[in-house]
Amino acid sequence: MSAQILDGKAIAAEVTEALVGLGPRPGLAVVLVGEDPASAVYVRNKTRMAEKLGFYHEQLNLPATVTQDELLQVLHRLNHDDRVHGILVQLPLPKHLDSLAVIDAIDPAKDVDGFHVVSTGKLWQKRPCLSPCTPTGVMEMLRRTGVPLRGAEAVVIGRSNIVGKPMVALLERQDCTVTLAHSRTRDLAAHVGRADIVVAAVGVAELVKGAWIREGAVVIDVGMNRGVDGKLVGDVEFAAAAERASWITPVPGGVGPMTIAMLMVNTARAAGALL
Ligand code: GUN
Repeated sequence: MSAQILDGKAIAAEVTEALVGLGPRPGLAVVLVGEDPASAVYVRNKTRMAEKLGFYHEQLNLPATVTQDELLQVLHRLNHDDRVHGILVQLPLPKHLDSLAVIDAIDPAKDVDGFHVVSTGKLWQKRPCLSPCTPTGVMEMLRRTGVPLRGAEAVVIGRSNIVGKPMVALLERQDCTVTLAHSRTRDLAAHVGRADIVVAAVGVAELVKGAWIREGAVVIDVGMNRGVDGKLVGDVEFAAAAERASWITPVPGGVGPMTIAMLMVNTARAAGALL
């Protein structure tokens, strides 16, 4: 089999086009602490997309030396700003800050990242909630393959709070049988070989070998790693996996653009401009 490409850029463009000119006007505040270059790029892309869609938007750049109290005060102000429906604090934060406490200081109704402990609980209890952007984008891509999810075997590799764990919850909500694999998993190849759906989110370049992929599986690569030549590579051996998969996401141009698109969807939902 030779895989069809899941074009995240094209799907994201379709998703965001539907968000232009919404009322009430959605508003997004993005908080960047410090000067990590990768975070700065992500944040700029998020703010730019909000601007492009005509959303109210604010980007707050705080110094790496900001105190926990100062950051909490900023969030308090944003929680009470009626123009702002969504608040995002870019992660990771500098080590002296308590990330969990910072996230939990965001009003859950404005938690467009879906990382608040209340959002997490609602997600696992199958209640309506704002769900984390990257895994939600993955679900939108899976939906568009038309591959049935009910009863499908899914393997998620990587157990982060940002991707792996919420990914498991979202797949389970659609009646997949889900295995969560991680760095301590014995015989990863065997787990991957059983899967109808593979979601790789470990951050290790080409950890998942093409030969492991079950014939006809859907392969979603959340990884963004710099190869030795400076090029972006995913967590999956793309060319070899594409020989066996039915659908596969490229890196770049796969999951990446979907994260931003779903952030815009969550912001529109938080504003009450979208169901
Ligand atoms: N860092 C890496 N991914 C994300 C994300 O989706 N949201 C935030 N806030 N930080 C991140």
